[in-house]
Amino acid sequence: MKKIKVAIVGLGRISGDHFQGIGALPDMFKIVAMCDTDPARIERCAEERPGLKAYDSIDKLLKDDEIDMVTICTRHPDHVPMARKAIAAGKIAVVEKPCATSAKELENLIAFAKKKGGRVFFRHNRRYESAFQKAMQLMNSGILGEVQYVKIHRFPSYCRRNDWMTMSEYYGGLLSNWGPHLIDQALQYLAAPIADIWSDLRRVISIGDGDDLMKILIRGTNKRLVEVELSGCNALPGRQLEIIGTRGTLIYEGGKQIEVRAVDPSIPFKKLKPHPEQPGFAYGNFDETLEFVDSLYDVPPEHMGQLWVDLYNDVVKGIPTPVRPEQALAVMKVIDTVFKQNDWKPILSKWGK
Ligand SMILES: NC(=O)c1ccc[n+]([C@@H]2O[C@H](COP(=O)([O-])OP(=O)(O)OC[C@H]3O[C@@H](n4cnc5c(N)ncnc54)[C@H](O)[C@@H]3O)[C@@H](O)[C@H]2O)c1
Repeated sequence: MKKIKVAIVGLGRISGDHFQGIGALPDMFKIVAMCDTDPARIERCAEERPGLKAYDSIDKLLKDDEIDMVTICTRHPDHVPMARKAIAAGKIAVVEKPCATSAKELENLIAFAKKKGGRVFFRHNRRYESAFQKAMQLMNSGILGEVQYVKIHRFPSYCRRNDWMTMSEYYGGLLSNWGPHLIDQALQYLAAPIADIWSDLRRVISIGDGDDLMKILIRGTNKRLVEVELSGCNALPGRQLEIIGTRGTLIYEGGKQIEVRAVDPSIPFKKLKPHPEQPGFAYGNFDETLEFVDSLYDVPPEHMGQLWVDLYNDVVKGIPTPVRPEQALAVMKVIDTVFKQNDWKPILSKWGK
């Protein structure tokens, strides 16, 4: 069975995740090279991981015939140009989120890969979050009845953040940084085409000029509503997830368990009529008694490294990875819409975009 030879481009904060995740699968992958324009980063990586070939430019790296796959962990506006170069050189491209700086750019990349007979994958690794997967499983089990509202709230710490990821020049801000993860989850919960989107995007405490607080409401053609609230300025964060269905509610507060309170599944909802006549001196429903069942479900340990296993199975065995290019494109379209609705234009002039 083929072992995929990998190069990691961009040796910054997230590169450790790539080394760790890919390195944990020695039967599937072998990391053979690394690349960064910063010599100090190359030196640091060479000390930590001796034996890798080092390149100071992706152009040089792409001439290396040993390399099958390139993972791109550089600044946001570099993602698509680098992926295009990798595909043109006959390599598999793995693109960190955000997958592009616009839906159009991503659409062109996907079309380019198709035209060249190349492969491109998108690292929406939070699709693999254990709590997300468990919540999806519970939602789809029917225990909550017909799901009406899903509220995803995420607060990547109260922080007057000041690195490049907060600067619109680099397609920074929380929408392009954390947004892809949560919008990807939102579209999975939605489970239907998007009917309409409402959003509010603002900058509250970020030092960069990018956004750090948003609410996005996505309504499906199935009438389900998914709310995404994402904030880098909430000092007292609450629940991460609420799913409200006709028979119960699921909540997740970020710990090791998901809580569900649902009407006992053995109790059917009887067909009842409302009473127009004079009521007694109480509120409620006197024609039925509903019993709740409260349940706690363990969230399994994280296994986001499964993304690499699925990617391998796609490349080598032809089993499609769950994160599809068209889904990455759907996420980018939501991001574009939110920027547009809020008259927020990332400044990408330096990058020729
Ligand atoms: N999927 C996730 O969970 C997750 C988490 C964090 C970051 N990310 C994404 O990973 C990417 C990198 O983030 P980071 O925090 O590691 O950034 P970083 O700034 O820490 O690292 C980027 C690295 O890229 C190098 N670089 C810049 N231009 C280059 C070029 N032209 N050629 C080669 N190397 C170059 C820099 O020198 C730096 O070492 C971003 O897209 C970010 O959004 C994803």
